[in-house]
Amino acid sequence: MSSSNHQPGILEPHCAVGRTLTFRIAPGTDIVAALRRLRDGFPPELGVVGLGAPTVLALGKRVPGLRVFPAMSGPACSVPSTQQALWFMLRGRDRGAVFDASRSLRKLMGDAFLTVDVMDTFTYHGGRDLTRFEDGTENPKGDDAVEAAIVSEGEGLRGSSFVAVQRWVHDLARFEGFEPRERNHVIGRDAETNEELEDAPPTAHVKRTAQESFEPAAFMVRRSMPWASADREGLEFIAYVAKLEGFEQMLRRMVGEEDGQADGLFRFSFPISGGYYWCPPLANGKLDLRALGL
Ligand code: HEM
Repeated sequence: MSSSNHQPGILEPHCAVGRTLTFRIAPGTDIVAALRRLRDGFPPELGVVGLGAPTVLALGKRVPGLRVFPAMSGPACSVPSTQQALWFMLRGRDRGAVFDASRSLRKLMGDAFLTVDVMDTFTYHGGRDLTRFEDGTENPKGDDAVEAAIVSEGEGLRGSSFVAVQRWVHDLARFEGFEPRERNHVIGRDAETNEELEDAPPTAHVKRTAQESFEPAAFMVRRSMPWASADREGLEFIAYVAKLEGFEQMLRRMVGEEDGQADGLFRFSFPISGGYYWCPPLANGKLDLRALGL
């Protein structure tokens, strides 16, 4: 199975630098003109565009499969929902390119959408999380990636994708205070060799999230990137899926809804944002918003 009308940034390898932006709808404005400008004026090579439930609802439409990101709690952990109207992942080879892309985007948005949050992201040591563990090893590849991340049918839907995004804040000092063996057991892999550890506890992240252990299997294409401000840092978690159900089931297992045990990640990291967005397909190199009647 292959699809070529998806937004290219969904399946392309990591870019050197990125920037995530979220927007809310300015009260009382007509968003249709701004969405048309976005459709016609946003070059897909600048990055990925996602539309959240507030935008779809403001248009009086429905995108099958799109919903609001759910807040969750588990033993000693909580997962917030900070659902916004629009999400962008700008991708660039350097900060200059991302700067230019941000300015173009702001022009397209006009007064209809207001910035909620902007975060610069970067590739760390060739694709590692700030804990130095390699991130993305078990991502499906080639046709499997297309199957996991891209919607395969439906008028105006084929070629689209859903993205789940969360900003995690790491307490790196705490993580580095763990013995090396304990760190490996938090993830369930060896930090040096990246080997999966058979003797890792059930709380180990890769045991909680083993994609084939879900029914049906919950494959996803993770394109997370580290972020760091002057005094805080963490991971901008970004996962593309053809269906959000598998992701949500996985997150519920991470917070311990199934067995009362939370994912080891919560021992040093916690999410402060969460959103689901629909990433429309392309037609003739532009966003195809027919599903929204545009
Ligand atoms: C602090 C946030 C997170 C960090 C630092 C992190 C880090 C990692 C690392 C190091 C791996 C092992 C290598 C790999 O296969 O990529 C991994 C695997 C994985 N993670 Fe995460 N992760 C985070 C959050 C999440 C979340 C929220 C989900 C989904 C709900 C998730 C889903 C997965 C999946 C599906 C795998 C592969 C499991 C497998 O099939 O072997 N991760 N993660």
